[in-house]
Amino acid sequence: MRSIAVASGKGGVGKTSFVINLAVSLAKNRNKVLIFDADLGLANVDVMLGINPKYDIRYVLTGEKMLKDIIYPTEYNFDFIPAGSGVVELTQLDSRQKLLLKSQMEEAFRDYDYLIFDSAAGISDNVLFFNAIAEERILLCTPEPTSIADVYALIKVCFRKHRLKDFYLVVNMIKERLEGKKIYQQLIYVLEKFLPEIKLSYLGGLEVDECVKKAIRSQVPYIVLCPESKVSKDLQEIALKLERYQPREETGLEEFLERLVSF
Ligand SMILES: Nc1ncnc2c1ncn2[C@@H]1O[C@H](COP(=O)(O)OP(=O)(O)OP(=O)(O)O)[C@@H](O)[C@H]1O
Ligand SMILES: [Mg+2]
Repeated sequence: MRSIAVASGKGGVGKTSFVINLAVSLAKNRNKVLIFDADLGLANVDVMLGINPKYDIRYVLTGEKMLKDIIYPTEYNFDFIPAGSGVVELTQLDSRQKLLLKSQMEEAFRDYDYLIFDSAAGISDNVLFFNAIAEERILLCTPEPTSIADVYALIKVCFRKHRLKDFYLVVNMIKERLEGKKIYQQLIYVLEKFLPEIKLSYLGGLEVDECVKKAIRSQVPYIVLCPESKVSKDLQEIALKLERYQPREETGLEEFLERLVSF
């Protein structure tokens, strides 16, 4: 199992819609995918999918529900764990809760190829928690300078606080292919100068497209609603590229659970 956190620093850059469409795309390629809505308190994955889940992660932490009971299937062949609304501090888990989660995850996550965390905006402890327990991290930015600066800031705190060194970059809402690549190169330039330990790999860019907004309004993933649009093609290319970064052997789930309990 590969565990991947999707984060951005800045809010509203397209994380949730990217995560959902990535999941659809990976599922089409015969992967078993589970989205974990890590935007605790401001859950959005269920809203974008038009699903109204009755239970969420809070019920597991209080012992009312088992983790497997809050894994919801979708019509797009991937599953998801809702975050619910109201504040849940997963960084504040006590060791009993961590062990409870660990033992239930061991069972519930066994068959998945991908576990994808849709992070909240910002660089709070919760965001850092999911970035640190995931094996891989995809950072999203747009061409706006503030968004690029926030990705840089996120990389910096991830490294300073948790020694995380490897990241992928996706540039969303670009006008043409070259724009994304240029932003990647700008970031590489600054990183080489100030944080030379960091390895940032470019996964690709996603064009700005009216279909994304239309899809969100109709609560359908855009690669389902407009499969022929440029943004859908871009997304599929990114998914393929991600798949080609071969997962490390079979120990992905075990290592993920180790990071969870030792956080
Ligand atoms: N490629 C795109 N083309 C056009 N609009 C886009 C694109 N990607 C995202 N958007 C717009 O950006 C808005 C925010 O997207 P989304 O909710 O996925 O961002 P987010 O990063 O998850 O936000 P938050 O930080 O609040 O969780 C969407 O409502 C959509 O209108
Ligand atoms: Mg979101």
